[in-house]
This record gives sequence, C-alpha cells and structure tokens, in this order.
Amino acid sequence: MTMAKFITLEGMDGAGKSTHIPTIIAALQARGREVVSTREPGGTVLGEKLRELLLHEDMHAETETLLMFAARREHIATVIAPALARGAYVLSDRFTDATYAYQSGAKGVSAAKVELLEQWVQAELQPDLTLLFDVPVEVSIQRLAGARSPDKFEREDAAFFTRIRQAYLLRAQQNPARFRVIDASRTLEEVKKSVEEILSTL
Ligand code: TYD
Repeated sequence: MTMAKFITLEGMDGAGKSTHIPTIIAALQARGREVVSTREPGGTVLGEKLRELLLHEDMHAETETLLMFAARREHIATVIAPALARGAYVLSDRFTDATYAYQSGAKGVSAAKVELLEQWVQAELQPDLTLLFDVPVEVSIQRLAGARSPDKFEREDAAFFTRIRQAYLLRAQQNPARFRVIDASRTLEEVKKSVEEILSTL
C-alpha cells in the first residue's frame, strides 16, 4: 500500500486500541508528515456535544445511527477532508466500521440503511488502512471491569459484545484490502510490535 493517509482504529470496548495511539502518531510523524489525530463520535465541537448524548442517553437505535452520521458529516467537512487535502495523515479512533459493528451488528439496524447513510455522508471517502484490535469477549469484559465508570455501551452484556466482535470480523473479511486484524489479547509490547510492523509496510 502506498500513500495511505486515512487510518482508522477499531475494536470493541476494552480491546485497548486507544493505548496505542501515541505510538502510531510517533511512527507517522517520523515520516515527516503532519498527523491529525481525532476520534468518533466527536472530533469537532458539535461532534463532542453529540458524543455526550450518544454515550449517555438512551435512544432508538436508528436515532443513534443518524446522530453518529450527523457527527461524522461535520467531522469529515471540517477536519478529515481538509487534512487529507493538505497531505496530512489522519488517524481516527473509530469511524464507520463502528456503526456497522455497534448499531447494525449489535443493535439490529439494517446494514442497508447504514450503507445509505455512508454513501450520503462519505461519498467516495474510505479509510486507506483500518487496524482492528481483536480480543475474545471475556478479555474485553475483564479489562473493562477494572476501568473507570462505564458509559452506555460499556454496560452491555456478553451477547452484545459477541455480536460486535462478529460484525467487526465480518467487516474485515469483506474489506481485506484495508483491514489488518491484530490479536490484542497479547501483551502490550507484543501488540505494539505488530502495530509498528504494519505501519512500516505503508
Ligand atoms: P470509545 O471509542 O471506546 O472511547 P473511550 O475509549 O473513551 O471509551 O467510545 C466510543 C463508544 O461509541 C464505543 O462504545 C463505541 C460507540 N460507537 C458506536 O456505537 N457507533 C459508532 O459509529 C462509533 C464511532 C462509536
């Protein structure tokens, strides 16, 4: 893969993806290009307000899907597209694959509806590289047990997490050119090494 610019991080809660963000930023900066590090839901002033609602208010799964894409539209327009246009790397902690995994895979919103919104909001824009931090559900639940007070999604049960994991792995299977699945049940050092190896092939 050459000139990969838009990189996304995915995985279920407790997979530990966010821990690796500083390493990834450093590896990308070492290539002498600007790096914009951002997240979803969020990444803009409006998006962070929507994040508060999304993570803490109960709502219909389709309302949730629409708000995710509303935040995403703003994120693309004001952060992601301008950064890519000036040749920066964009690193986003979650993007549309999370909507397929959580709202569609786990909560049952039809994939066709998500696809419709994806086409509307993103047009041709897709990540060049997606790192999927994959862990067995028990590992994720164990890791979350020690974490700070859980948000709405983190309070769900094992069956919910199982559906998320399966949906993510299916996304990886369907999009093999951009996905790299990382076994994140290993030690931090081992996972870090895998991440660095993948980035070195960019
Ligand atoms: P997360 O990325 O895990 O952040 P933190 O590490 O601060 O908890 O939290 C975001 C939550 O939002 C996560 O549980 C997944 C959920 N989410 C969706 O359900 N759909 C989406 O489209 C996105 C982007 C996130």
